Amino acid sequence: MKKIPIAVMVSGNGSNLQAILNFESDSNCLYKVVYVVSNRPDAFGLQRAGNANIPVIIWDKNTHPTLAQFEEYVALILKNNAVEWVALAGYMRMVGAGLLGPFAGRIINIHPSLLPNFPGLDTHQRAWQAFQYNAQNNQHGCTIHYVDNGLDSGEIIAQSALTITQGDTPASLQTRVHKLEHALYPLILNELCSNKA
Ligand code: GRF
Repeated sequence: MKKIPIAVMVSGNGSNLQAILNFESDSNCLYKVVYVVSNRPDAFGLQRAGNANIPVIIWDKNTHPTLAQFEEYVALILKNNAVEWVALAGYMRMVGAGLLGPFAGRIINIHPSLLPNFPGLDTHQRAWQAFQYNAQNNQHGCTIHYVDNGLDSGEIIAQSALTITQGDTPASLQTRVHKLEHALYPLILNELCSNKA
């Protein structure tokens, strides 16, 4: 069966990218990552893409000085390669009209908190602090949501939760949430690909 072409956008380590790639060896996998996009040339995710022989698009500010130009360039390549879904995985830029227009309703993101709690940065630190303040604030986790032009504000698709315990630290929460992310992201992408209109 023909796999659905998807792209993954990263800025850093790319452990979620790796989880998405690893799932391709599952016989139920419906997608194939055909491009990895990075706004940073030093993102480790690019090495992961290279190891898997996946073409990359890297923001070169000499050829595309503005983010808008970079997005237009990315959208053109992804459209030419019939990409159907764009998965942000640690992509640390707001997405603008250059991608949101061509890929309306087709860009998703994973965020390391149970939105609407803790949009933005430092989510594990903030969740840990909330727990220190009141032990009833013991739910944390990750959210996969559609991307719109707000900050972590698009419609929620799925969440995975854990319970914070006394022994946790912001660092342990990060590790625990990453595990949830790596399990959830490939499954949700697969589900979206199975609902193809
Ligand atoms: C993840 O925690 C994700 O939720 C957030 O950025 C982190 C990226 O981690 N958006 P990695 O690059 O996939 O390891």
